[in-house]
Amino acid sequence: MECGSSSEPSVGPTHVAIIMDGNGRWAESRGLPRLQGHRRGADRVREIVEACPELGVTHLTLYAFSTENWKRPASEVMGLMRLFRRYIRKEGARLVDEGVRVRFIGGRERLEPDLQAQMSGLEAQTRMNSRFHLTIAINYGGRDEILRATRRMADAVRRGEISSEDITADTVEAYLDTAGLPDPDLIIRTSGEYRVSGFLPWQSAYSEFAFVDTRWPDFTVERFAQQIRGFGRRERRFGAVAG
Ligand code: IPE
Ligand code: IPE
Ligand code: MG
Repeated sequence: MECGSSSEPSVGPTHVAIIMDGNGRWAESRGLPRLQGHRRGADRVREIVEACPELGVTHLTLYAFSTENWKRPASEVMGLMRLFRRYIRKEGARLVDEGVRVRFIGGRERLEPDLQAQMSGLEAQTRMNSRFHLTIAINYGGRDEILRATRRMADAVRRGEISSEDITADTVEAYLDTAGLPDPDLIIRTSGEYRVSGFLPWQSAYSEFAFVDTRWPDFTVERFAQQIRGFGRRERRFGAVAG
C-alpha cells in the first residue's frame, strides 16, 4: 500500500518499526508446527538487522511478543520464550561487538527471571553503543505502556517531584518505555493484516504505515528494501499544507 506523491522524494526512514506477523500461517500452510515458523522468523530478524545500516536505517524496533500473546497455548508461549533466550545468547556478543545498542520495551515482571536477567545484561553491555539502535518489544502493549507510565507519573506528582500542570508531551515521552528513542518514521506490518495490535500508539501518531501481504518468514531483505524505497516517495505533511 503506497500513497504516491509527485513532490520531491524525501529522505529515507531512519527509524523503522516492524510488526513481524505471519509466522504461524507460514508454518501451517506447509504442514509444519507453528514454532517452525517462529524459528524461521528469527532467522529473518538477523538478516534484516544486518541490512539496516546500508539502507540508511539507524533505528529498528521489532514487535516480538504482545501483552495479548499470553493467550496462546502454553507450548507456543514457551517455545517463543526459548527463542528469545536463544536469540540473546547467540546474537548478543555480535551485537555488542558491532556497536548495536539493544533495548527491550514492554513489561518485564511477567517474564521468567533468567530471561529478564539476559535482557538487562545485554542492555547494560550495549549501553555505550550508538552505531545502530535495535529495540525489541517483548510483552509489549501500547495501552499497558501508557498505563505503566501514567502510574509512575502519578507517583512522581504525589511525591512532589513534578506538578501536574508541568506535564507536557515531553514528560509523557520520558515515562514511556521508548524514552530517548525517536518516533518511528515507518511502521511495516507483514502478513496482510490491517491493524496495529497495540504497537506504539503514542509514538506512531505521525508514522507512515506499510501493510504488506508477505508473511514474516518470507520477508526478505529485498522486500524490506522495497518498502524503504517506497517511503522515499511519500510526502509527510505533519498537519501543515504541502510545501
Ligand atoms: C507473529 O506471527 C509472531 C508473534 C505474534 C509472536 P504469528 O504467530 O502471529 O503468526 P500468525 O499470525 O498466526 O500467522
Ligand atoms: C501482533 O501480532 C503481535 C506481534 C507481531 C508480536 P498478533 O498475531 O498477535 O496480532 P493479532 O492477534 O493478529 O491482532
Ligand atoms: Mg499473528
